[in-house]
Amino acid sequence: MTKCSNRLIPIVICLLLGSIATQAQESVAPSHQADFPLWAYGYITPPEPPEDWSQSCMGSRPRDCDRPGGMPKDPTNKLLQVEGSDLEFTLAVITSPFTPADWFPGDHPPMPEIVAHGNEEIGLRACAICHLPNGQGLMQNAPVAGLSVEYFLQQLDDLASGKRVTSDPHKANGFEMAAIARALTPEQAREAAEYYSSIPFKHWVEVVESDTVPKFSASRNGLLTQNEGDETEPLGQRLIELPKSAYDTNYLRNPRSGMIAYAPIGSLARGEELVTTGGDVSVECLTCHGPELRGTAIAPPIAGRQPSYIGRQMYDMQKGNRNSAMAATMELAVNRLTQDDIIAISAYIASLQP
Ligand code: HEC
Ligand code: HEC
Repeated sequence: MTKCSNRLIPIVICLLLGSIATQAQESVAPSHQADFPLWAYGYITPPEPPEDWSQSCMGSRPRDCDRPGGMPKDPTNKLLQVEGSDLEFTLAVITSPFTPADWFPGDHPPMPEIVAHGNEEIGLRACAICHLPNGQGLMQNAPVAGLSVEYFLQQLDDLASGKRVTSDPHKANGFEMAAIARALTPEQAREAAEYYSSIPFKHWVEVVESDTVPKFSASRNGLLTQNEGDETEPLGQRLIELPKSAYDTNYLRNPRSGMIAYAPIGSLARGEELVTTGGDVSVECLTCHGPELRGTAIAPPIAGRQPSYIGRQMYDMQKGNRNSAMAATMELAVNRLTQDDIIAISAYIASLQP
């Protein structure tokens, strides 16, 4: 196979080669293999059958994606607050599918209807409930702030057409996202793209190299959270991203809270080597993603974004589950990476300033 790691081969040729590779691949169905890196998909142990959302959620009515009960409940209905906001909401409003709480309206421009409320008639939840009003996103979905309008719309098309599918058949929110992409009108898609594109992505993940990680649990919606107390466990070859405060992030959905990502010792140096030189297994990421990985006309910004999201995307691309012509240009970057390489690259990228 031709290698784009040779700096003399211009990017355009790599792009062309990528698109030829995709055409040859297009008849192959996505391989829903269960060997995905559990940490990047929010699991401690492999998910149990039989919840296979890849079959039950194929239409364009997001309501048909029968959702797991991921959201917390509070029968007392008391008013809650987050630091720095004058507003108060009950948990029912915070987790509401069509009117989710907006703790900091001053942090972003006015939200378009589709972002703030979705479309209740067809069960299309507000974008803001998952990606948050400021687009920072959480580890189980995606950071959408600061993406270019073109890239954003391209992803919606790829999700709608099935060129982008999650490798985890249990990832209900991934299939719900695809149903949402199929249900959006072109106007709604553009409004959402222009809105999130106008908000700069803020760095909110601190990367720590360590042999251990605080003991943690997996919630049903794909978020890992630290347990109470200060017990730790061996980290092993995993990258574990935990909210700094599970209460703030998972319960209050505070869009100004943050994460700590625990990565094996040596990850940052190895990640830097792979990202800047390609090492012996990959190609320089900087050629396409820009010198500081802040995005270019051909490739999206990735610096400082959630490491679980970065790792998950690289794995999905490696398995051919993200296989548009544009995603195929990543083939030479991801083909030969081991899971340890993906951990190192994700940790390093998450540590950079966006
Ligand atoms: C149920 C939660 C949920 C809702 C609601 C939701 N999304 Fe998503 N979104 C996701 C998930 C999950 C992903 C993909 C994560 C993955 O591939 O691992 C995603 C990915 C995306 C991406 C790709 C980002 C990238 O960097 O490639 C875009 C763009 C996007 N969503 C836009 C939207 C818009 C616009 C709306 C509202 C109309 C919306 N989403 C509503 C969960 C959601
Ligand atoms: C030949 C150009 C090229 C090179 C080299 C390249 N990328 Fe990419 N990358 C792209 C393009 C184009 C996309 C968008 C794919 C799509 O549209 O689905 C992308 C997407 C991504 C994404 C997903 C972003 C998102 O928001 O979902 C990640 C993560 C990523 N690249 C990481 C890397 C890393 C790490 C390297 C180096 C090891 C690298 N890329 C090298 C072109 C490239």
